Amino acid sequence: MSVHDSKDAPHYEHRNPDSDAEPTATTPDTPLMDEVSAEAAPAVSDFMEQAAAQNEAAREDLPETSQHKTVPYISFENVSKAFGSVVVLKNVSFYVCPGETLCILGRSGVGKSVSLQMLMGFLRPDSGKVMVAGEDITTMKEKQLQEVRRKVTMVFQNGALFDSISVGENVAFPLRERGDMVEDQILQVVRGLLEMVGVAGMADLLPSDLSTGMKRSVAIARALASQPEAVLYDEPTTMVDPLMAHLLGNLIQRLKAQLHLTSIVVTHDMRFAKKLADRIVFLHQGEARFFGTMAEMEKSDDEILREFLTLDELVLPA
Ligand SMILES: Nc1ncnc2c1ncn2[C@@H]1O[C@H](COP(=O)(O)OP(=O)(O)OP(=O)(O)O)[C@@H](O)[C@H]1O
Ligand SMILES: [Mg+2]
Repeated sequence: MSVHDSKDAPHYEHRNPDSDAEPTATTPDTPLMDEVSAEAAPAVSDFMEQAAAQNEAAREDLPETSQHKTVPYISFENVSKAFGSVVVLKNVSFYVCPGETLCILGRSGVGKSVSLQMLMGFLRPDSGKVMVAGEDITTMKEKQLQEVRRKVTMVFQNGALFDSISVGENVAFPLRERGDMVEDQILQVVRGLLEMVGVAGMADLLPSDLSTGMKRSVAIARALASQPEAVLYDEPTTMVDPLMAHLLGNLIQRLKAQLHLTSIVVTHDMRFAKKLADRIVFLHQGEARFFGTMAEMEKSDDEILREFLTLDELVLPA
């Protein structure tokens, strides 16, 4: 189904006015707005509709090509990167189309986080091209990169929240930067986004008061507050307990299904990747050893890839 199909467009409505009172178990199909209280629902619903409309318009700006249904939203084209004598990436290519999710797999130290940092323009490739939002960011100046970072945001493992301001102010930060929202609207959207990601009522706490998983949830709320076109997640479900991993995984699946955000997810969790990925890139010894769809990966008889998948299944918690 094309991302342009209007029936594919997300609808934001407040379906459960009692959600304040009774938190319920969520599935990937549970509407994100179900989490949001009646007070915050109108402001959040407007805000999410605005974000969805922006993303739809941004997709339409990308030209059609003969190679892909649409131009990839993000791509690596023959990217190489070394730190001194340590070669991390050699001629790596992959892409993700608008509204799709790419999972990056590979052993520790293979260059997954380095790849995300290159996509944000924090690191530059030694050779090759990095395309983001239809633009070549490889040689962009810092000021232009800041513009790109308004469209693509990253959710770091530790959340990378501002330590000295409250959770609520962290989420309010991108809203205040826009300069076009009144205080009451900002507070309602912050409240609603925190409810949506499962950390309702924590607005006044400091980031240091939160667990790793909660910090990541807040980082996702802050990312949503910037109305991004794409979100990059670095190992969102690791280093937390299995229940939190499940909640975070579920949230990311719901964001994918309901907001159609273009996403890149670095993960070790194969079960999570299977639920989420439209495409997979498997990095091994500096190379993109496999790049393709999940169905193609399951059919692959590459021994190295099969070994990685088998080992990964073995170490996952039941
Ligand atoms: N700024 C840097 N300076 C020098 N070397 C670096 C830098 N950043 C990363 N590296 C090196 O690049 C390699 C890839 O690191 P990266 O963090 O991308 O691995 P990873 O695939 O994310 O691993 P993990 O699964 O453990 O997070 C490592 O050898 C690391 O030491
Ligand atoms: Mg890493």
